[in-house]
Amino acid sequence: MSKSVEIIRNRAGSAPIELALILGSGLGHLAHAVNGVAIPYADLPGFPHVSVSGHNPSLHVGTLEGVRVAVLGAREHYYEKGNPAAMRVALETLKALGVGSLIATNAAGSLRADIRPGDLMLLSDHINFSGLNPLIGEPTDARFVPMTDAHNPAIRAALQAAAMAEGVALPQGVYAWYSGPSFETPAEIRAIKILGGDAVGMSTVPEVILARFLGLKVAAISTITNMAAGLSDEKISHEHTKAMAPLGAAKLEKILRRYLRDMA
Ligand code: HPA
Repeated sequence: MSKSVEIIRNRAGSAPIELALILGSGLGHLAHAVNGVAIPYADLPGFPHVSVSGHNPSLHVGTLEGVRVAVLGAREHYYEKGNPAAMRVALETLKALGVGSLIATNAAGSLRADIRPGDLMLLSDHINFSGLNPLIGEPTDARFVPMTDAHNPAIRAALQAAAMAEGVALPQGVYAWYSGPSFETPAEIRAIKILGGDAVGMSTVPEVILARFLGLKVAAISTITNMAAGLSDEKISHEHTKAMAPLGAAKLEKILRRYLRDMA
């Protein structure tokens, strides 16, 4: 048993955890809704070192709407240290604790006129525009992970039902992962549009690949903080992302709470 598994069991109890949630930029406060304990990543060997403002680097384990959950208050992004597998140990640890499904969240820029800042988008699929992969160097044949239906159809249907019940719009679209940390150029956004992207962001795709590698079911939701580069006059910045994320966060919390209640 890994050291992190042992520490989490000691502090949070050994009942299996059903679902894990990763919170994106400006969404960290959702972690405080969990009725349980918060364990700083710094106490958990192998967990990420997060250096991005607007993120809460601790693991919250407890119940939310009657479901035992683990909420990762922050992620390490590829652009922080150049490691696409930065979340691998954290996800392996959660898997060892019983987690069967993962819902990832992020802040993203929209390429679609009908999906505006403050709106949410459920990822129907993704495009790995970065060309990076967290499984490069993995020596086993398990590295050849099928990515058809990587964004789990049953979880997506349940999230859409939860959104409908809460009266929150949850359009689906394709998320393109661009490495960051610089934002995209307008030409890159035009390219992503031609390739079939509906939103663009700097995270989530490596975690979806790792989750599928580990056999976790996965789904992801973006909170749209801005129109992508060149699509509006608004200046794109990290400050703006952090300021806008809470607009979608309240809707996201409603959907997730309803999804968990339906699951319980
Ligand atoms: N591009 C990339 N990442 C982002 C954006 C964007 O426009 N907005 C929020 N995260």
